[in-house]
Amino acid sequence: MTKVLILGANGQIAREAIDLFKDRKDIQLSLFLRQAKRIQPVAPSDSKIIEGDVLNPEDLTAAVTGQDVVYANLSGTNSIEKQAKSVVTAMDKAGVKRLIWISTLGIYDEVPGKFGEWNHHMLDDGYLPNYSAAAKIIEASDLDYTIIRPAWLTNKHEIDYETTQKGTPFVGTEVSRRSVAAFVVELAENPAIEIRHSVGLNKPNTDGDQPAWY
Ligand SMILES: NC(=O)c1ccc[n+]([C@@H]2O[C@H](COP(=O)([O-])OP(=O)(O)OC[C@H]3O[C@@H](n4cnc5c(N)ncnc54)[C@H](OP(=O)(O)O)[C@@H]3O)[C@@H](O)[C@H]2O)c1
Repeated sequence: MTKVLILGANGQIAREAIDLFKDRKDIQLSLFLRQAKRIQPVAPSDSKIIEGDVLNPEDLTAAVTGQDVVYANLSGTNSIEKQAKSVVTAMDKAGVKRLIWISTLGIYDEVPGKFGEWNHHMLDDGYLPNYSAAAKIIEASDLDYTIIRPAWLTNKHEIDYETTQKGTPFVGTEVSRRSVAAFVVELAENPAIEIRHSVGLNKPNTDGDQPAWY
């Protein structure tokens, strides 16, 4: 049995992941979120619901203790760097090593061409620098992390993705939240893959100057 803690369990990707995890008999889920009542209707009956804030060290350390995998599905332009510090500190304290961290495309200036320029234009207003700073904190830790850098997210009910590694140009413009969730499940079930990697995620054949719906 693998114990997986989801931080930010009410997030949109997290909800897709909960839906995929719930059929896996080898996974024991704990769901950490700021307002527990929001997740109660969709939480699997055998999951544990924990109300807490990632920026509260006591809440977080108690939740992380005894877990095998921490999947952080967090957001916040002005708080994501602090949240990264808080997660690393709590995991170090609890002696938990495996972290899956959702970030974004563009944190290494890895998006080429006109789409890269458009991405900067859309995301430079604090978001990219702060998400980049958060990723640096994770990478400077000694955790067994995987940073996931999704393309622009859609709510399509599909699992269709390919990956790129840090140091290579980002490919494509979009990916579904369900695809990101499927990759998270794959990582949680295979503890030896993508360790200390930062992985871009996109839907194949979606190259363009901007996402199709813009
Ligand atoms: N939109 C895009 O195209 C795109 C592309 C690439 C990457 N991303 C990034 O991917 C990440 C996940 O996406 P998503 O759609 O799942 O995001 P989301 O729906 O905004 O989920 C993020 C969750 O983080 C939780 N959270 C924030 N601060 C917290 C704290 N201090 N303690 C506990 N929970 C906290 C929020 O909780 P509450 O429910 O309590 O507010 C929210 O449920 C985000 O960081 C997003 O910026 C987005």
